[in-house]
Amino acid sequence: MGIFPFMSKLMRKGKYLFLLLLCLCVVAWIATFSSDDGVKTAQEELNPLDDVKSGGGFRQLELESEMMQSIEERVEEQLPKHSCPERSPLLRGSLKLSFEPSLTIEQVESVNEEVVEGQYNPSDCTARQSVAILIPHRNREKHLLYLLYHLHPFLQRQQLHYAIYVIHQAGDATFNRAKLLNVGYLEALKDQNWDCFIFHDVDLVPENDHNLYMCGEQPKHLVVGRNSTGYKLRYKGYFGGVSAMTTEQFHKVNGFPNSYWGWGGEDDDLRIRVQLQKMSIIRPSPEVARYTMVFHKRDSGNQVNKDRMQLLRRTHHMWMKDGLNSCSYKVVSIDRAPLFINITVDIGQPERDR
Ligand SMILES: *[C@@H]1O[C@H](CO)[C@@H](O)[C@H](O)[C@H]1NC(C)=O
Ligand SMILES: *[C@@H]1O[C@H](CO)[C@@H](O)[C@H](O)[C@H]1NC(C)=O
Repeated sequence: MGIFPFMSKLMRKGKYLFLLLLCLCVVAWIATFSSDDGVKTAQEELNPLDDVKSGGGFRQLELESEMMQSIEERVEEQLPKHSCPERSPLLRGSLKLSFEPSLTIEQVESVNEEVVEGQYNPSDCTARQSVAILIPHRNREKHLLYLLYHLHPFLQRQQLHYAIYVIHQAGDATFNRAKLLNVGYLEALKDQNWDCFIFHDVDLVPENDHNLYMCGEQPKHLVVGRNSTGYKLRYKGYFGGVSAMTTEQFHKVNGFPNSYWGWGGEDDDLRIRVQLQKMSIIRPSPEVARYTMVFHKRDSGNQVNKDRMQLLRRTHHMWMKDGLNSCSYKVVSIDRAPLFINITVDIGQPERDR
């Protein structure tokens, strides 16, 4: 075999190879140009509305809305919500309170639609303080209803960012107001960093919205008078009913004692703790710090605490051991109702009953 026949054989094979390559190129070319875009262009001419439905259109809209959003965000940054005024223009002073026997929770909810899961934030300005209201509770549904009815609008007129926590003692051990308030403080701080705490009895309704539910440099006692005492302070050192302390002030005194079961003494213990920390208690003027006490008999399960005088004598060396740092409890449930956060808690029993 000479060199020529070999070459011509190769050429013939090469021709097939060339044709094959050419075919592949054509296929690849068709594949490239008959992609979605090409098909879509034809469809667009038939029905321009299809553009909105197609993926490309969505991307376009998304980009536009992203741009709008970032423009809006920039505008908001330039115009921050201003701080609420030092004195709220919504205050109305002393108001006539009503205690309608037929009042229902649904009625109270329907007039408080801006309250969400017990919490409210003014829409047109930034509140000066974030305040958690803690209400220890057991078997006082009607009192709670009256308090919610009056307290929500009262706090909104003060332009506060606030939430109402009801701390509900589970079981039938003797009532322990102080320990429930410790639990409320610890649990509320898991929701957010509140500036201020208001410790609030369920049966006291404020009469005058100039009595500000805000904290100050010193702990505040908000009940100077109530209708049941002829609006006179019960006694000189009284610190019960409704009081206000900043998160730091309450932490500094190690909270309330956990060891006061039954009625009385725990508020005096808190006063001693405050004094031991060289803080003093301030009060608003008697014309403003007025409350209506909703009538009730002392509940069973909240008998007078006969040990209270003995306990009070030990406060100065017990306060560091008995308080927030020793508060043990089991949360049974946390129910975020429209108008309040219901924390049901098992706080155990008095030592002597165990
Ligand atoms: C205080 O006012 C409430 C509500 O009107 C009433 O139920 C209660 O009996 C009053 N207490 C006294 C001692 O007047
Ligand atoms: C709070 O929740 C507990 C447990 O679900 C319930 O028994 C109690 O009635 C609730 N309290 C209020 C005031 O709704």
